[in-house]
Order: sequence, then C-alpha cells, then structure tokens
Amino acid sequence: MEFTQLPEKGLLYNKVLSIMKQYGINDANWKKGKTFSLVYHRDDEHTKFLQKAFDLYFDENGLNPMAFKSLKQFEYEVVKMTAQMLHAGNDACGTMTSGGTESCLLAVKTYRDMARELRPQIKKPELIVPESIHVAFEKAAEYFDVKIIHAPLDKDFKVNVTAVEKLINRNTILIVGSAPCYPYGVIDPIDSLSTIAIRKKLPLHVDACLGGFLLPFVEKLGYEIPPFDFRVEGVTSMSADVHKYGFSAKGASVIVYRNMQYLRHQFFIYEDWRGGVFASPALLGTRPGGTIAAAWAAMVSQGEEGYLHNAKTIMETTKKIQKGIKSIKGMEILGTPHMSVFAYRSIDPDVNTFAIGDILEKKGWHVDRLQRPDALHAMITPVHAKVVQQFINDVKNAFEHVKKNPHLAYEGSAAMYGMISHIPMRKMIRNNILKMMEGMYGPTGQIPDLSMEEDTKEDIAMKAGKFYLKLRDKFRR
Ligand SMILES: Cc1ncc(COP(=O)(O)O)c(C=O)c1O
Repeated sequence: MEFTQLPEKGLLYNKVLSIMKQYGINDANWKKGKTFSLVYHRDDEHTKFLQKAFDLYFDENGLNPMAFKSLKQFEYEVVKMTAQMLHAGNDACGTMTSGGTESCLLAVKTYRDMARELRPQIKKPELIVPESIHVAFEKAAEYFDVKIIHAPLDKDFKVNVTAVEKLINRNTILIVGSAPCYPYGVIDPIDSLSTIAIRKKLPLHVDACLGGFLLPFVEKLGYEIPPFDFRVEGVTSMSADVHKYGFSAKGASVIVYRNMQYLRHQFFIYEDWRGGVFASPALLGTRPGGTIAAAWAAMVSQGEEGYLHNAKTIMETTKKIQKGIKSIKGMEILGTPHMSVFAYRSIDPDVNTFAIGDILEKKGWHVDRLQRPDALHAMITPVHAKVVQQFINDVKNAFEHVKKNPHLAYEGSAAMYGMISHIPMRKMIRNNILKMMEGMYGPTGQIPDLSMEEDTKEDIAMKAGKFYLKLRDKFRR
C-alpha cells in the first residue's frame, strides 16, 4: 500500500495503526539488539514511561516560555542538572536543542557571533577541529560560512595538539575537541587543548553529545577517564545528548556554557517583525513540548543510581564484545576507546572489512561503515547485553567466511563502500551521492540499493581511469 494523495475519507485509527506497522516490517531490528547506532533503548518499561511523560505535554510548544512556563521550568532544570553533572559551576547556563547536530551547529554560530562582536577585524572566521570530529561541525561550517580546519590525529586517534596549536592564526575563533569522538570512541586531550585555548584566548567547545550522559558515570564506576568536562579550565561550552545515553525520547540535547558571556551570542532577536517582537534561544521556532518534558522525566526518573546502573551494564557488555573481537586472530579494535563506542576491522590483508560487514548485514545486524581507515562501527547500549555471544560468533564466522572467499570484497555493498572510501576523486563520489539523494527525495522517493550495480561500477572505474590518464598527461607536459 502506498499513499501518494490524501485518501478521500480518513481511515479509522485502528486501520491506520495497522498499516503503519506494516510499513515497519523491514526496518532494522533494534529490539533484538541488531543495530549499533540510531536507537538508544533502556528497557520497555522505561520507554512506556517516557511515552506517558511525552504525552502529558504532547501539544505544548516551547516556542513561547511565557505561555508554557512548565516547559521553561523543565528546560531550566534539564540544563542545570546537565551542567552539574559536567561540573560546570554556578554561573553555567544553556538551552535544550533538538539533538546533537543542533547543539553543534549552535556552538559554531555562537562563537562566530561572539567573534563578530568582539573581534570585528576577522572577516574570514576559522574553527579548528580534530579530523575525527562529528560531521555536524562540517555542516555548521558550511551553513554559517566559517572555514573549518582539520587537525590530524595521532596514532592513538586523539587529535595532535601540537598540530592544533600550529593551525591557530588571527582568524581562529574556536577550537573543538570530542569526548569521545564518534568514529573511535576516543576522548581528545581536552586538558592540553585547554592550555592552548587559554594561552591564545580562544573558546574551547567539547562535543560530548555521545559521552555527556555516560562518561560521568563510567568515571564514577572507577574506569580511567581523562579530564573532559568543565573541570578543565579552558572549556567554555559542551554539548551532551539526552536522547543518546540519557535515554530520553528523540529530539533532546543540551548545550551548556560556562556563563552568559557566551550563551548570549546564541540568542536570536528580531524586534521589527510584523508578527511581533521575536526572540528565540536556539535554532527551532516551534519546540515540541513532549521532547522537553520527556528529557526531564528521563533524567529525574533514572537519577544517579539509574545512570550508574546503565553505565555498568553498558561497559561490561562493551568489554565482553571487544574481548570477543580481539580474540579473532586477524581482527583489531582501533585505538583505546574510552567508553562504549568503538571501531573494529580486519588486519588480515586477505580479509576485507566491508565484506565482513556484508555478511553481518545478511545475518540481520545493522552495522555502520567507517572510512580512512576502513572499519566497522559499534555503539553499545543495554539491549546488546543479551546478544554478546551471538554477535561475537557471527563476526568470527563472517571473518572466516571472507578468508575463504576473498572475492566477496568485490561484491555486494563491500564493493561500493570500498570504492567510496578509496577512490581519490571525492567530487565524483559527492556527485553520485547527490544523484542518490535526488532519487530518494525526488518525486518517486526511491530507496537506493547499496549493492553496486555492474554499470555503476564500470562507470566509476571508467571515470577513475580517465582521471588518471589526464593526471599523467598533465605531469608529462
Ligand atoms: C560526537 C557526536 N556529536 C554529534 C552528533 C550528532 O547528534 P545527532 O545525531 O543527535 O544530531 C553525534 C551523533 O552520533 C555524535 O556522535
């Protein structure tokens, strides 16, 4: 069934709900612990509770805090509790946002606007990020016209601090580090970045979208966690997602600043609008009351004890899975991840990592692929506690199967991912992805098949060949 125009008469609610269930039958099976990103599920009881909390404020709109003082109070308390968790001190302030991306976008906008006010001589602002930074900062740079400068990583996948310092110039408006970064789950050396930031009088944002609601508790459990939060003097702001390890409903993140001196640059005010004087604290106009209320409910219902309990389960599960992967001769975990997010890959030259990914996919696992270097990605949540051995066995079997069938590297989506990650012509990749998106969001709404069509493969290979010939001719001349 497909609706491409409104049904003449509305369908009965029950009918609608049953059709909706049908739409989801081929979705990734997160309930059985088969996904390693996208869904953060604590347990069914908690989800039902969140739905009720959401429901209580389903219709309310955080756009106008004067009309819905409840939402303003929830938001204030969510920000305060987050700030306290991250040791931000009494002057800390901030706002809730719709998610990690919005928090990261806002960090860049805030410091750009702060530089516009305090350092008006800067015409082309620049921000310095580790190469492992979340892509939301690339988006922010593009949206807000700030030049993004990538600092290389050391062998341990942490940003090279000396390189960061060398990249600072008179246009630099911001340094960013991650706690931890998405690809490898590694925390950047925040204290060293802080030393530089203080010396150069620059703000330092720590992207703790992933770690903000987990690291404080992992640390309390006794795991060794390097300094990453406001206890580090030079940290001026942090982003932390309630809808990830805070186990709230989707659409909830927090950006916390050390004090109002920074946050004030995040606000948008337009006093001459015909619709009335307008002021908003973050990117959105309408702000769904349900997500704000559910975030508050998630935090208050779990408390320190609940979050510690989650952290214990998550870390123990992570360690077991990592141990299982490391026990496969020919596989490794990249770097030394600090929490439950990590990358793993084959180091056997005959075993293609993406081909392992394809086999896992066939077994129903939904695994994300990384590039530079090629690797598979895992983000562990409580649902994975019950699939530890099954997952390790499947990775082991997949590894052995690819070892016996190395040609699998050139088939299925392994070919596609391999090509995408290694082909030097990034513009061509971009164009192909653009084409795919035009298909997906165009009039026919096609979902692409990621296993590579023969003609696409040939097309790319041909273009790659032509490119090399051109390059060769150029250098001959
Ligand atoms: C470190 C980090 N920052 C930012 C984000 C963006 O968060 P969201 O997907 O909620 O927009 C993510 C998402 O995984 C992340 O891992």
